[in-house]
Amino acid sequence: MRSLLPCLSLLLAWPAGAGAADDSVMPFMEYLDPDSLVCLKWGFNIVQGTITFALSVNTTGWVGLGFSPNGGMQGSDIVIGGVGPSGRYFTDRHATGNVLPPVDKEQNYTLLSLTETDGQTTMTFQRSIQSCDDDDFHITARPIKLIYAYGETDEISYHAARRGTKEINLLNYMPRATLLGTNYLNVTVDNISLPPTHTYYHCKVMKLPKLNGKHHIYRIEPVIEHHDIVHHMLLYSCPFFVTETYNRPCYMGDIGDYCFRVVAAWGVGAGAYEIPENAGIPVGGEINDTYYRLEIHYNNPTSEAGRTDSSGLRLYYTAQLRQHDASTLTTGLMVNPSLDYNIPANATQFHTYGVCNTSLFSTLEDGPVPDLQLFALLLHTHLAGRKVRAGLFRDGKQVDFLGFDENYNFDIQQITSLGNIKTIKPGDDIVVECTYSTVNRTGVTKMGLATTDEMCLAFLFYYPAINIDSCWSHPNVAYLRSDNQVPEETDQDAITNHESLLKTIPQIQVISDLYSNFSVNPEGTVRDMMKTPSLSCQKTTVTSAPNNLASPRPGTSWLVTPAGTIILLLWIAAM
Ligand SMILES: *[C@@H]1O[C@H](CO)[C@@H](O)[C@H](O)[C@H]1NC(C)=O
Ligand SMILES: *[C@@H]1O[C@H](CO)[C@@H](O)[C@H](O)[C@H]1NC(C)=O
Repeated sequence: MRSLLPCLSLLLAWPAGAGAADDSVMPFMEYLDPDSLVCLKWGFNIVQGTITFALSVNTTGWVGLGFSPNGGMQGSDIVIGGVGPSGRYFTDRHATGNVLPPVDKEQNYTLLSLTETDGQTTMTFQRSIQSCDDDDFHITARPIKLIYAYGETDEISYHAARRGTKEINLLNYMPRATLLGTNYLNVTVDNISLPPTHTYYHCKVMKLPKLNGKHHIYRIEPVIEHHDIVHHMLLYSCPFFVTETYNRPCYMGDIGDYCFRVVAAWGVGAGAYEIPENAGIPVGGEINDTYYRLEIHYNNPTSEAGRTDSSGLRLYYTAQLRQHDASTLTTGLMVNPSLDYNIPANATQFHTYGVCNTSLFSTLEDGPVPDLQLFALLLHTHLAGRKVRAGLFRDGKQVDFLGFDENYNFDIQQITSLGNIKTIKPGDDIVVECTYSTVNRTGVTKMGLATTDEMCLAFLFYYPAINIDSCWSHPNVAYLRSDNQVPEETDQDAITNHESLLKTIPQIQVISDLYSNFSVNPEGTVRDMMKTPSLSCQKTTVTSAPNNLASPRPGTSWLVTPAGTIILLLWIAAM
């Protein structure tokens, strides 16, 4: 087991009140060197466009971190700091070769704290994800070569062997499997025969093998037999009334279509997925009776016949329970196929909404409802979906985005790590907005289970688990006049009016729990969401004078440049 000590002592070393530097801001951690002397923690905030690092090295000399184009020093964006005899120092630099990197003209890193305790120097700093400066590195959702070096003294000079490089995907971090136990469940299909079609969705509804007592799933890995055809996989848990197993094409009207609470997801290009260290998905014990549905999307462009496959997911579990149970909360527009809610044809940008008012939780939960700590999410629509956004509102005002995807692609459904932990407080509202295009459709699109029907959901992955598993809404269609139900497909004004009516009439909110208790409130309202923020370069003034620490957090920038957003989302989508 690798030692967590340096990073733990780093945690303890943070002074009370240095709010920026805690695990909820920097949930990720890696040692950059083989001897566990150089520890990097980080986290990011896509809404603010910032990334925060804490570099902790067992030295009382200078410490440096760099972003390198090729693993070497030349061309790297470097930050160096330390606590010396005459105070603290911290500078943004760039390497022109294997020589002392000159200080950048523009200082684009903000120092949050710099400490030296027990022979260990810890430097916490923040920067824009997007670079401000030609001398700075542009951080994308791809593996990045990080370089580090440190000295034995505060004189910044040649580091000799005290240097190294490690490649990490900072914005799409997947921990390496170094600590894996040997216990796992394989949730796979078994040599199924695929039809000779371009697109095929296979569904297997099953129970997980019985485990004695409660365990925690902490890592989900893809197990892929044929990389050329397996496109994406989703594992859903089923509601109580699904009690039969089967193995056949999805979305044929089977009862298992009702299993749509996402537990795990994998999409082409993704690796393993890991739950934060203090949480796990409970399995076994009392929950042995749950059924699950594994959905595999096969993509067979040449419609080759005779293909078989045995792919699926591997769920690593442990009997050493973690501090919290993790769970999934389904939010958005309630999935109710009998609801008379239709999206007209020929709409270029039709918006639908679902709202979750968490103050309703107390009607079903015994005892106080905890703050929910959100660590990841998955946005979900079907084939007409183009954008999905989930906003968090407190006291009627939007305080954050839980997530957004301005280039939604049904074929790339992945659980997205938030980069920081977002807190949902009791009483907060969550609004999910979906944008559809039905320009190529002739009839209306209804809300339903088939991929040609629509959904508008955000699955929120959080801890500690509560019993409530869905919190969603639908417009009270009784308020729609019969002549305003589904506009003529060519009349854009009527389409816009219909869309606006569905948004402004009262929303019927429904929450339900694992035991299928539910509670209804007919008075939901959909609040307006802010424009989607985009990553913009944020120039910050850094005071590098000794003992004069600049520690304000850069202000939130809501600058909107649509092109920037698209580029950001393309990076994420390209991961
Ligand atoms: C690094 O320093 C910390 C704090 O003094 C100490 O707990 C840890 O054991 C050291 N790590 C190594 C590998 O020497
Ligand atoms: C899988 O199924 C195919 C055709 O159904 C069969 O030819 C093949 O032997 C099977 N493979 C295994 C490993 O069972």
